[in-house]
Formats: sequence, structure tokens, C-alpha cells
Amino acid sequence: MIPSGTLPKVATAALLLIGAQAHMIMRHPVPYNLDIDPKVQVDPLSDSNPFPCQNRIDVQTRTDIDAGGATLVQFTGGAQHGGGSCQFSISYDDPLTNGWNTSAKFKTVYTIIGGCPAIFTDESRSLPPAKPDQDGRANTAECFNDFGIDCTRQFLVPLPSFLRNGPATFAWTYFNKLGNREMYMTCAPVTIHNGTASQPEIDALPDIFVANVPASDCTTGTAADHVVLNIPNPGIHGRVLAPPSEPATKPHNYCANIPPKDRLPTFCDEYAVDGDGDGDGDWGGGGGDGGGEV
Ligand SMILES: *[C@@H]1O[C@H](CO)[C@@H](O)[C@H](O)[C@H]1NC(C)=O
Ligand SMILES: *[C@@H]1O[C@H](CO)[C@@H](O)[C@H](O)[C@H]1NC(C)=O
Repeated sequence: MIPSGTLPKVATAALLLIGAQAHMIMRHPVPYNLDIDPKVQVDPLSDSNPFPCQNRIDVQTRTDIDAGGATLVQFTGGAQHGGGSCQFSISYDDPLTNGWNTSAKFKTVYTIIGGCPAIFTDESRSLPPAKPDQDGRANTAECFNDFGIDCTRQFLVPLPSFLRNGPATFAWTYFNKLGNREMYMTCAPVTIHNGTASQPEIDALPDIFVANVPASDCTTGTAADHVVLNIPNPGIHGRVLAPPSEPATKPHNYCANIPPKDRLPTFCDEYAVDGDGDGDGDWGGGGGDGGGEV
């Protein structure tokens, strides 16, 4: 279904160029500081935009999300990094009083290996540009589904029914395939509804994977590598949209817990989401087959 075996190799010069270009944010659920200063940046996490959440805490819109349902996740940005792997997580830490700190807990609810948020037929080229957003962030063509090629995808992310109700933070973290080894993170204030609040099950969710940032002591490769990261401890809910890959030569501080590329996660399909959840497969499910797959 995904012609990843046919993706052309690209020249190092092109990679450097790609690495220098604009990146992305999650725009729905509406993140902290989407349009209010200090605005959330499309750049990777760094000393000035630290883990977690680029230290953004200003609530613009708090999105209602449904434990046991699913939430639509959309992105804005350049997406010139050949896609990658991403995670969606929930934090119950309250950043509003003292801000975020690096020990904040983010529990993974869904993991996507490869194809997040795009798959390219020619990774040496940028995606076609689209209208910049209201704050002038660059954007590219969007697929408005979770399977298109050469456009930025969107995903319907299922949420466990055992979440605790009330205010929380929903985060997207992303490891790009091409360019410098980076980590991206956008966080959105949400209110969780319909949860059954099973603390043991919440505690049993894996912690999100953190690498390539000052808050972590390990990396996922070097800038020369094309890495579709096989995210460690991905949890039991997610999808593999493109095969994982690993660097030919691992740097000395390569994260020791990254599974080998051929050890694919086993995701249960109990959480499979077909399209918009009403079963008609109109923008989800993949491959134009009417949906229903994971
Ligand atoms: C809670 O669940 C009910 C019943 O499934 C649904 O109608 C409602 O929209 C849900 N609430 C939210 C905020 O999604
Ligand atoms: C960091 O945040 C966590 C969770 O909000 C909190 O429990 C902890 O006390 C904070 N640590 C520091 C050093 O502020």
C-alpha cells in the first residue's frame, strides 16, 4: 500500500537544504500559544524552545476530547523531513502555575511508526506550498486524510476510555526522517470527558520517548541518516505506516532502548479507527479501500 521501497535516494546536499527548511506544528487540537505571543514555533525543541511543550502555557482554546472516542489531529508546516514517527500523549501535570519542567509526565496513548505526517514519492523535493497560516507559518498541501502521498496527513487518534476527566494536555511528539536528528513537540490544552478514571491503567501507559534534546542524554542517529524511528515502548495502540529504519553506523550516544528495525511493534486493532468513526471510511482507514484497517 505504501510504495516506500521505491523512494529514491537523495543527495546529501539536498538533505542539508531540507534540514534548513521550515518544520511543523500540530494546529488541532489548538495548541498553547497558537496565535498569542510567545507563539508556538514550527522549529524542533531546543534550548530556547525546550522540552516539554516548548514551555508554552498560554491557553487560547481548550479543546473538549472524548475518552473512549477519538480526536482529530491536524498539522501546519513545511513537512520537508520525509515524514517520520510520532506519538500522541496525555499529561495531567498543571503547567499554568509554575510552567513546565523537564520531569513533567507524558503518557503515550498512540504511536505511529513512519508516514507521520507525510510520505513522499521524492524526498529530495519539498511538498507543494499552500497558503501560510494566520501567523505566517509556512504550510504545504494537506491530504485531509491519513493515507495520502505528497501531502500532510491528518490522523484520528483514539483515546483510552480509562482517562481521568478534567483539564489535561494533549501532546504530539515527532521524530523526523531526514535532516538533523531532532524532536518536535506541540502541546494543546484539553478537557477530557467521559473517562472512567482508572489510575492503574493510566499509570501503566508508557512514558513518551524523548531523544535528541538537552533533556535527554541520547540520540537517534546522525544528520546523515534516514531514520524512520522504531519508537521504544510505543504502547499497544498505534499503526505502522512505513517500515522502520536505523542508522548504518550508530553514534556512541545512540539511544540503547531503540528496538532493531525488524522488530515491529505489535499493536492491537481494538482501537482501529475507521474514518471519522462512523464507519463510512470517508477520510481514514487508509488506501481508499473503504477503511477498517489499522
Ligand atoms: C461523551 O459520550 C457521549 C455518549 O457516547 C457522547 O454523546 C458525547 O459527545 C461524549 N462527550 C464528549 C465531550 O465527547
Ligand atoms: C516539575 O513538575 C512536576 C509535575 O508538574 C512537579 O511535580 C515537580 O514538583 C516539578 N519540579 C520542579 C523542580 O519544579
